[in-house]
Amino acid sequence: MAEQQTPPPVTLGTLQQMKARGEKITCLTCYDASFTRVLEAAGIDMFIVGDSLGMVLKGHETTVPVTMADMLYHAANVARVGRHALRVVDMPYMSYANPEQALGNAARLVAEGGADMVKLEGGQDKADIVRHLVSHDIPVCGHIGLLPQSIEELGGYHVQGRDEAGARTLLADAQALEAAGATLLVMECIPAELAALITASVGMPTIGIGAGPDCDGQVLVLYDMLGITPGKVPKFVRNFLQGADSVPAAIRAYVDAVRDGSFPAPEHCF
Ligand code: KIV
Repeated sequence: MAEQQTPPPVTLGTLQQMKARGEKITCLTCYDASFTRVLEAAGIDMFIVGDSLGMVLKGHETTVPVTMADMLYHAANVARVGRHALRVVDMPYMSYANPEQALGNAARLVAEGGADMVKLEGGQDKADIVRHLVSHDIPVCGHIGLLPQSIEELGGYHVQGRDEAGARTLLADAQALEAAGATLLVMECIPAELAALITASVGMPTIGIGAGPDCDGQVLVLYDMLGITPGKVPKFVRNFLQGADSVPAAIRAYVDAVRDGSFPAPEHCF
């Protein structure tokens, strides 16, 4: 009988090759062992252990109360059973306020939380932090556009980069992060046209959430795409459980829709 083979682990090199070939990268947030198995069985390329766990798991209004202890606990749950997908783990609020603090916390997310890379929010203002982490061999994913950890400052969950000045700033942010050594970029809630321009302007793969179809890959918050998030659902979310007969089938439908380009559709874009 033929043995079932686990596909080789996805690396940053794999994602780079996918960008070069124009193959879409599939990503979902993930916070525990059971969903890690379901997502990997569906062939997902990468997970983000997101600080969105503060809202969807812990019931907070924002991601601000999320702690390093929260991130370490959930990242380790994912890493314990993960075999294939690349694991990106969020650095929580105020865990990267200066380069030394960022290095200490990022090293813990890698060593204790099994992160393949860490993600932090911000652009040109975070270039020094990114440079410091990368110079200590910690791969970094940037996150620009809507920054949930700065929600008070941004004045709410609004699309970013709509005017010319805002769009120029986001493009400069992406380029500054890449110049500082970031090798992956999440773009949240920005116009599709701007996301396409940034994707074409940087060598690193881009992963969009509410950023249109021309990013190199897509991510959604797992609980949003399963239709169990209370309150107003963001425009960029599609409920993949609708029309599927199980959670694994919904995840497979998401992976297929990202790969064949049918998600996000125009109604999910800004
Ligand atoms: O915390 C989170 O879920 C995120 C998303 C953008 C993926 O950062």
